[in-house]
Amino acid sequence: MKIRSVTLVLPIAVLFLFTGLSLSLGQTVPAAPARQAKPAAKASSADEKARALLYKMTLDEKVGQMVQYSCRGNWEFTETVQKDWAAEGMIGSFLNVTGAAQTNGYQKYVMENSRLHIPLLFGLDVIHGYRTIFPVPLAEDCCWDPDLLEKCASAAAHEASAAGVRWTFAPMVDVSRDPRWGRICEGSGEDPFLGSVLAAARVRGFQGKSLSDPGSIAACAKHYVGYGAAEAGREYNTTDMSEIALREIYLPPFKAAVDAGVVSIMSAFNDLSGVPASGNSHTIREILKGEWGFQGFVVSDWASVKELVSHGYAADDPEAVQKGVLAGVDMDMQSGIYHNYLADIAKKNKVPMKLIDDAVLRILKVKYELGLFDKPYADEEKELSAMTTPENLDLALAEARESIVLLKNEKNLLPLSKNIKTVAVIGTLADSKKDALGAWHCRGEEAMEKVVTILDGIKAEVSSQTRVLYAAGVSPAAEDAPQNLIDEAVNTARQADVAIVVAGELQNMSGEAASRTSISLPGRQEEMIRAIQKTGVPVVLVLMNSRPLAIPWEAENIPSIVESWFLGHTQGSAVAQVLFGDFNPSGRLVVTFPRSLGQVPIYYAQKNTGRPGKADDKWTSRYIDSPNTPQFPFGFGLSYTEFEYANLEITPVTPTTKEGLKVKADITNTGKNAGTEIVQVYIQDIAADITQPIRKLVDFKRLTLAPGEKKTVEFNLPASKFGYYNEKGRFVVKPGRFNIWVARNAADSSLFAGFRLVE
Ligand code: BGC
Repeated sequence: MKIRSVTLVLPIAVLFLFTGLSLSLGQTVPAAPARQAKPAAKASSADEKARALLYKMTLDEKVGQMVQYSCRGNWEFTETVQKDWAAEGMIGSFLNVTGAAQTNGYQKYVMENSRLHIPLLFGLDVIHGYRTIFPVPLAEDCCWDPDLLEKCASAAAHEASAAGVRWTFAPMVDVSRDPRWGRICEGSGEDPFLGSVLAAARVRGFQGKSLSDPGSIAACAKHYVGYGAAEAGREYNTTDMSEIALREIYLPPFKAAVDAGVVSIMSAFNDLSGVPASGNSHTIREILKGEWGFQGFVVSDWASVKELVSHGYAADDPEAVQKGVLAGVDMDMQSGIYHNYLADIAKKNKVPMKLIDDAVLRILKVKYELGLFDKPYADEEKELSAMTTPENLDLALAEARESIVLLKNEKNLLPLSKNIKTVAVIGTLADSKKDALGAWHCRGEEAMEKVVTILDGIKAEVSSQTRVLYAAGVSPAAEDAPQNLIDEAVNTARQADVAIVVAGELQNMSGEAASRTSISLPGRQEEMIRAIQKTGVPVVLVLMNSRPLAIPWEAENIPSIVESWFLGHTQGSAVAQVLFGDFNPSGRLVVTFPRSLGQVPIYYAQKNTGRPGKADDKWTSRYIDSPNTPQFPFGFGLSYTEFEYANLEITPVTPTTKEGLKVKADITNTGKNAGTEIVQVYIQDIAADITQPIRKLVDFKRLTLAPGEKKTVEFNLPASKFGYYNEKGRFVVKPGRFNIWVARNAADSSLFAGFRLVE
């Protein structure tokens, strides 16, 4: 194909800090000579080694490192084209090749047949586990336990690495405030601060102390950036936001991942305020590689550079390549367009060689850091023994228990007695191994027999005298399920002392390409729950899903509701331990549950408006048919005990814009059970040059207390916690009046104080 000669107009001045090359508005990309300084004779660091290797590479071989293809088939017979390309050094990475034998097969071929013997890097979506499946990320986040998340990511990394996969496309750190968006299940929910803490924990877990450790894998923070703001919650949809929203809400978790040492970032599918994220020099070159000094490489999402054409941002594939490379996307996933056009474009000086060299150096450096040149192969003998070990399953259980959020527990119906005479378990989800694994279950199905369903878990938990009855009832997928399934469920419930109804969504109703226009219980599930409720048998509703659901009727009428999400291999054990009191639930929501879809977007960090909503005043910011408040707020979750909050102290009472603030409060377990509380600190800047949210989470602590025990919890809030981004994209800390809450959740106001920040 002939490449049109294009004058590239970049959206804003772009600083190529690392090359000393600077382009400004409307400027034609200059032809840069491919001058390379001869590297030092003896290279020791990954960077020096990468430079020494780069020096020996042809243009085609350089481009090859920037190319990644997906390959799931049998290497020998179905991928012959790719096989030849790989031998010619035209492929630097594969995704979706897994297993020691498979990865070794590819690797051996390349190591033995290519001119420079540059190892392949195998990438895979190890999102919440490789073979041992942990809770889906949105559930894991509800633990508010970065140390535990780090351990689980590390366990996943060990399994993946044993299978030859040294690169995961995780953590997904997209903030999202729209439950319609199926991928909300993969991120950290609605809050940028919590999302940042958890992003860093996951990066540490995957990458370990050193990337070259055998159990470490390279992490990839995705999807850079703004993907979670898809209009109307529709997958892959356009996003449009102010620079302030970008910096306050969507960028922080990526910055935290970079600060934690993440070595790769994935550029997103979405159009971002008119410049698609995978062709966006402002976010990639200027912010990520410039301002933040990110030294790793950027991989596109699946064909997202090629999609610049569909976005209407590039006229054809070659122009998409040019815009992708200029923007800073170092590796093209799957589309083949770098492979097809980049060398040609470079020869025509439409992309400076310096940018290609920079991209290749970044990729090679990571390969050296991973130790792939010295140890390119996985140990086939040891692979199996690394998978679903008892230790990993125990860890998965610990995390699954902490992920569960108790949403309602009227008259302490829960925990149930293990000696209860008859329990009815109802719902197809209660007996579904596949759904327990969640949307991104990687190789989890290979260990399907190890999944404990909720029905299995309950049977194992109750006394030997207890009768456990089961009725499948209606499936979430069946819009027109026959009435006899509901009747059967009702009859089963009638025979029992308690009905545990497991309802929600199938695992494939969330995740990628699974946006919904309704966030109610799908199918005839609510009808079934109402019919069971009418029998008068106490009902415990256990939800299995991975997006916030709108369940106003259930929230009003069902005495106990447990949000169990998709918890992976140990779902059933974890849920049963919570239902029968072996584990006191401590999970807290990381995303607001609305009363109805009409309230979306709804999140705790909203702005006040000029007319804050008042229930009795029509002319304020409110609905005429619903309260403004959510069903369950951010940070919410109950326990089998109670915590009293008292004695808030802040010092100094007038902090300066430099020194920060110390905050103390006494938390007492006033109930009869030991329990874990997640103490949350929120602030509000009352008047600022840029209006601020009514509350902003700035810190939290986990606290485990015995019955009657009191602990003083202390927080140190540096002055930077009180700052914000101004309209110029600059972070400022300014004097003024603030409110502060030490709270159980975003709607709790029991401990509150005001203070003035001074110059
Ligand atoms: C997803 C990414 C994923 C990639 C590779 C894309 O469709 O958006 O999150 O890493 O596929 O599987």
